[in-house]
Amino acid sequence: MTGAQTTGGVEPFDAVQVISIKRDGGVVPGDALRWMIDAYTRGYVADAQMSAFTMAVLLNGMTREEIRVMTDAMIASGERMSFGALGKPTVDKHSTGGVGDKITLPLAPLVASFGVAVPQLSGRGLGHTGGTLDKLESIPGWRAALSNDELFAQLAGVGAVICAAGSGLAPADKKLYALRDVTGTVEAIPLIASSIMSKKIAEGTDSLVLDVKFGSGAFMKDVDKARELARTMVALGTDSGVATTALLTDMNTPLGLTIGNANEVRESVEVLAGGGPADVVELTVALAREMLALAGQPDADVEKALQDGRAMDAWREMIRAQDGDPDAPLPQPRETHTVTASADGVLTRMEALPFGIAAWRLGAGRARAQDPVIHAAGIDLHVKPGDAVRAGQPLFTLLADDETRFARAAEALEGAWEIGAEAPASAPLVLERITA
Ligand code: URA
Repeated sequence: MTGAQTTGGVEPFDAVQVISIKRDGGVVPGDALRWMIDAYTRGYVADAQMSAFTMAVLLNGMTREEIRVMTDAMIASGERMSFGALGKPTVDKHSTGGVGDKITLPLAPLVASFGVAVPQLSGRGLGHTGGTLDKLESIPGWRAALSNDELFAQLAGVGAVICAAGSGLAPADKKLYALRDVTGTVEAIPLIASSIMSKKIAEGTDSLVLDVKFGSGAFMKDVDKARELARTMVALGTDSGVATTALLTDMNTPLGLTIGNANEVRESVEVLAGGGPADVVELTVALAREMLALAGQPDADVEKALQDGRAMDAWREMIRAQDGDPDAPLPQPRETHTVTASADGVLTRMEALPFGIAAWRLGAGRARAQDPVIHAAGIDLHVKPGDAVRAGQPLFTLLADDETRFARAAEALEGAWEIGAEAPASAPLVLERITA
């Protein structure tokens, strides 16, 4: 209904009326909701009005139909891509974001090595969760911005593309997300679900696997809320004709042994070479299986492709296609500071959120969208929960370009890990699989 909301210059609805319906716990009629999104995108509905509306949604929720209409309205605000002409199935993955979450890097080439196209249109990091593009920009020469022609050519050839999402996809979401960010309304499930899914549906993928994280380093700290978000997004994808499944995964502990940018690329390459930390391998394999099942290859031997070099070949091709040099040395930090164990025992806890904040304070992430990231900054972990440690043994190393950053990072890490007498009970990394 974009562009059809005004009749001869007269607006058919009134923002105060729409806000009041949601404030009073009612259901906003579809045409009024479409108008609200369209009128906000074109600047007729003011930021103050949309802030009130998003707060009303946060407090009172939305029905499944309202969420579907809101998602459609955000898709209709911009372009809708189609990969139909490629002649091969397309499958994408979206993670709700976590600490040390570098899974997209090994996953995209791994899945593409089975002849499937993986259009991974990604964003940059803001706050304590890192951005995939920031990580890849550690590779000398690598270019995030591709034209649509370059994107199609690379999908047709290499199969895997990780690049910047163009500004034409769901512009309503861009404006709405920036507003939510400064009005305390990011955490509303209907708003998160419509924001993520509008971009993914507009992107034009045939199928989608969602990695919905719960725990201290995730958007959703609470597992029940994460489950509700996953179910909402799976329903939205399915209703729009995108085959969608979700995995509910634990983000209480950082993923793998690296948090940052260049160090996360290094670890991803280890996974592609058939090694790497067990949790990163487990999640990469689980997500690849889901993606390949949706793309019609439920029996694909994913582990073999990591062991026999096929996934690594696809990675090297993918990096080269975007002008990166897969053999170039990665940036190294100028300063390091290693924290050691104060006693013998077992590492019982390592909280994802403070480690994410510390890596961010070291320069690995940005506080404002326009800030640069320091590619060599971050944290290398030497142990994970359940590992036995001896007094004096290195626990983790802070990496920075400027040693004045260490104090603020160390402050974030106070109380973030614990050495005890007994190993913690092990929790599954993949808790649940959610399907339509
Ligand atoms: N990521 C998005 O793209 N949107 C949200 O609302 C939250 C996370």
